[in-house]
Amino acid sequence: MAELKVKLGSDSYDIHIGTNWISELANQFTQMKFSSNALIISDSNVAPLYSNKIAAVLNSVGFSTEHYSIDPGEQSKSATDAMDIYTKAIESKLDRKSPIVALGGGVVGDLAGFIAATYLRGVPFIQIPTTLLAQVDSSVGGKVAINHPLGKNLIGAFYQPELVFIDTLFLDTLPERELYTGLAEVLKYGVISDCDFFDYLRQNSNDILMKRPETIIKIIHRSCQIKADIVSTDERETGLRAILNFGHTIGHAIEAYTNFEKYNHGEAVAIGMHGAALISYHMGLCSAEVVEKICHCITKFHLPLKAAHCPADKILPLLVRDKKVINGKLNWVLIKDLGQVTIVNNVPDAIIAAALNEIT
Ligand code: NAD
Ligand code: GLY
Repeated sequence: MAELKVKLGSDSYDIHIGTNWISELANQFTQMKFSSNALIISDSNVAPLYSNKIAAVLNSVGFSTEHYSIDPGEQSKSATDAMDIYTKAIESKLDRKSPIVALGGGVVGDLAGFIAATYLRGVPFIQIPTTLLAQVDSSVGGKVAINHPLGKNLIGAFYQPELVFIDTLFLDTLPERELYTGLAEVLKYGVISDCDFFDYLRQNSNDILMKRPETIIKIIHRSCQIKADIVSTDERETGLRAILNFGHTIGHAIEAYTNFEKYNHGEAVAIGMHGAALISYHMGLCSAEVVEKICHCITKFHLPLKAAHCPADKILPLLVRDKKVINGKLNWVLIKDLGQVTIVNNVPDAIIAAALNEIT
């Protein structure tokens, strides 16, 4: 079992990482000053597998549990689903100290976190991430959101959980494609801040793909550590935190163009990382060898390098809808070397277009 801390003053919290240790939740819950009725939000893939197990542990230490299950998928991160969950929370008489528990991937985590941030102006929030992507990224850092028909994650808040509880056991039932998706974000951490970790991923890709327990724990731990350090420095993304968006500018545009149906988040980010690497190379910031190494890892992890049937001229206008556009300027996270990135807001249009042509 490993423990990390996200240091945010009175909003600090722990990330606990272990294997086959759901029962430990009993200890965690008894240490918190919660009201005794909890709402577990999950989706209809995850709930039948794990909801009752989590509920049994909470029941054993005196909590009653209410359950709400959403349809799996991005379309459930909606105002309609949020409204239904508020109704459930009100009808269940959840009070200001009643914990909302997110049991699922990033979709459940983002939506449940949004409910926790807004119901009664904020109630305790617990993250129990069940996808690799959620375990290494979305459950840490407090970005919670729902989507608007005109764009993803446009309605949201920074709202930190009180605990992130990771059990690698959940990954046993995760479809392979979702494992690869999470590996895209893991790879991102190596590229943006730790070249040794990047080398570790390159050298141990087979063990990672086979989910060898010690390698899985190591990559989750190192990823969470990097994210926790960045979030502790810059919770509200006024500077450093923006580097976590490496690969996401193009990634989000590809997700939007394909209606969130063809590529999942990690796949779109993988294509976006390839694009950002090419832009970095064309800007003279990094070598061709760096681009080649990143492409090699993306491919090794069964992730796409290119978005077929996404014409560059259709992706280009979607880039400027990115949330990170300030005063019309697009901030690109670009690579100087493996483990080292920089933010650039004056990439010439011709370089962006050339990179998009190479990846579509
Ligand atoms: P997801 O939540 O859609 O889960 C992927 C699929 O795996 C779903 O079908 C789900 O039902 C299934 N699943 C989850 N856990 C399972 C398990 N243990 N066994 C079997 N099936 C399981 O997708 P995701 O990739 O986890 O999250 C993507 C979302 O996360 C996007 O909405 C993205 O915007 C968001 N996100 C948020 C942040 C953040 O900082 N808040 C960061 C990255 C991504
Ligand atoms: N996933 C980007 C962030 O948490 O800032």
